[in-house]
Amino acid sequence: MEELYREGKIKAIGVSNFQMDRLVDLMAHHEVIPVVNQIETHPFCQQIESEKLMKENQVQIESWAPFAEGRNEMFLNEVLVSLAEKYKKSVAQVILRWLTQREVVVIPKSVRKERIIENFNIFDFELSQEDMEIISALDTKTSLFFSHNDPEIVKWIGTAKFDI
Ligand SMILES: NC(=O)c1ccc[n+]([C@@H]2O[C@H](COP(=O)([O-])OP(=O)(O)OC[C@H]3O[C@@H](n4cnc5c(N)ncnc54)[C@H](OP(=O)(O)O)[C@@H]3O)[C@@H](O)[C@H]2O)c1
Repeated sequence: MEELYREGKIKAIGVSNFQMDRLVDLMAHHEVIPVVNQIETHPFCQQIESEKLMKENQVQIESWAPFAEGRNEMFLNEVLVSLAEKYKKSVAQVILRWLTQREVVVIPKSVRKERIIENFNIFDFELSQEDMEIISALDTKTSLFFSHNDPEIVKWIGTAKFDI
C-alpha cells in the first residue's frame, strides 16, 4: 500500500478494526500513517480512549454500525428516546448528531430511501453539552459484536467471505 501511495496510484491509506495496540504497531513500523480507522462506535461502545489516541496521531475515527445494527434495543433506549422527543428528532438522528458533534465520521446503512434522507437530516439541530454527557453515560466500553483481540475471531474474519 505504501508503494502504491508513493507512486501516486492511491491518495490515502485507511484501515479498519485496528485496535489501538495494532494501530500503534502499524504506525511504528511504517512511514505512511493511515488517514482513517473504521471501528465499531456507537452509544454502547463509544471508543473514547481510542478516539483520543487516534486524534493525537491524526487518524480519523470512522464509526461502523453507528446504530449497532439495532442491537441492545438501541432504538428503544429510554435515554435516547427522551432526547429524540426533546429535540423533535428520531433516535437515529440523535445518535448520528452525537457522533458528528464528537467529530466521528459516520456511515449508517439503510435500504429505505426515507431513512437514508432522515439519516442525512442532522445539521439543523445541536445537542447541548449536558445532553452529550447524558449519552456518554451509556458507554459499556464493550463490543456488541465480537472481540478483534480474540485469535479465533481474527482467524474467522481472515477466512470468512463477506458480501460488501
Ligand atoms: N469494518 C467492519 O468491520 C464493519 C462491520 C460492520 C459494518 N460495517 C459497515 O458499517 C456500515 C453500517 O453498518 P451496519 O449496517 O452494520 O449497521 P448500522 O448502520 O448500525 O445499522 C443498520 C440497521 O439500522 C437500520 N436503520 C438505518 N437507519 C435507520 C433509521 N433512521 N431508523 C431506524 N432504523 C434504521 C437499518 O434498517 P433498514 O436497512 O431496514 O433501514 C439496519 O437494520 C455499513 O457500511 C457496513 O458495511 C463495517
